[in-house]
Amino acid sequence: MYDVSLNPLLALEERHLLPLIPPMKNKAVLDLACGTGRWLKKLVELGARLGIGVDCSAAMLRIAATKFAMAHHLARADCTQLPFRAGFFDFAICSFALSHFPDLSVVSREFAIALKPGADLVVSDVHPEAYARGWRTAFRDGRTAVEIRTVVHPSRKVLKQFLSSGFDCCDLFSEPLGEPEKTLFLQSGRGHLFQSACETPAVFIARFRRNRSHVSREGNGDIIDLNRTLECRTGKRV
Ligand SMILES: C[S@@+](CC[C@H](N)C(=O)[O-])C[C@H]1O[C@@H](n2cnc3c(N)ncnc32)[C@H](O)[C@@H]1O
Repeated sequence: MYDVSLNPLLALEERHLLPLIPPMKNKAVLDLACGTGRWLKKLVELGARLGIGVDCSAAMLRIAATKFAMAHHLARADCTQLPFRAGFFDFAICSFALSHFPDLSVVSREFAIALKPGADLVVSDVHPEAYARGWRTAFRDGRTAVEIRTVVHPSRKVLKQFLSSGFDCCDLFSEPLGEPEKTLFLQSGRGHLFQSACETPAVFIARFRRNRSHVSREGNGDIIDLNRTLECRTGKRV
């Protein structure tokens, strides 16, 4: 299954994303498109008071429910229509799922509505350049590998969309695979592909902070000066 054995992309993402997670103690947190609950489990272990995982796939949620005693904290719902009170959550993560959302404007507004002002949202996905080289996240269900249809969103588009949906950008960076992932290539018999794989940005990661602007489900039509915002960001080439 997808996250039973760590694949290089998941390992790389975890290595860079973990340091961006704020203290979890007493926080109400949301794992958006949680899949098998890979991040939800970590957030709860880090001390979150309440951890909720949302996914539209009953099959993924069934696996998440077997992993830890959180079955009643998993919601089958669509990220385009979240079933939560506005401004309830202190933190949210959306990992390797943006490219499954055809319309980022809808989901970014839903995420903003669910979060309190000042709350962080961390997102990650396969980097568009890696997609262009044919890299994909895939699910393995028993013997069958299932590839999910994806819509590749350029990083600048992701940034622009979240900025116009009530978020400020705190970090935005892309990362190639590195030495820590080499062992995983070797273990899967693909060691010969490692060097060339390292030449492509593999994942992009962004940390946004919910600001105080009002966000409605219909959109607020704010115009964002992307160049000014990029000057303020930390991190590396996007
Ligand atoms: C590649 S998996 C990532 C799972 C998990 N976030 C992780 O990183 O381990 C993408 C997940 O997005 C879910 N998904 C896709 N579109 C969705 C939507 N509109 N609402 C909720 N979940 C969705 C899929 O069911 C799948 O579990």
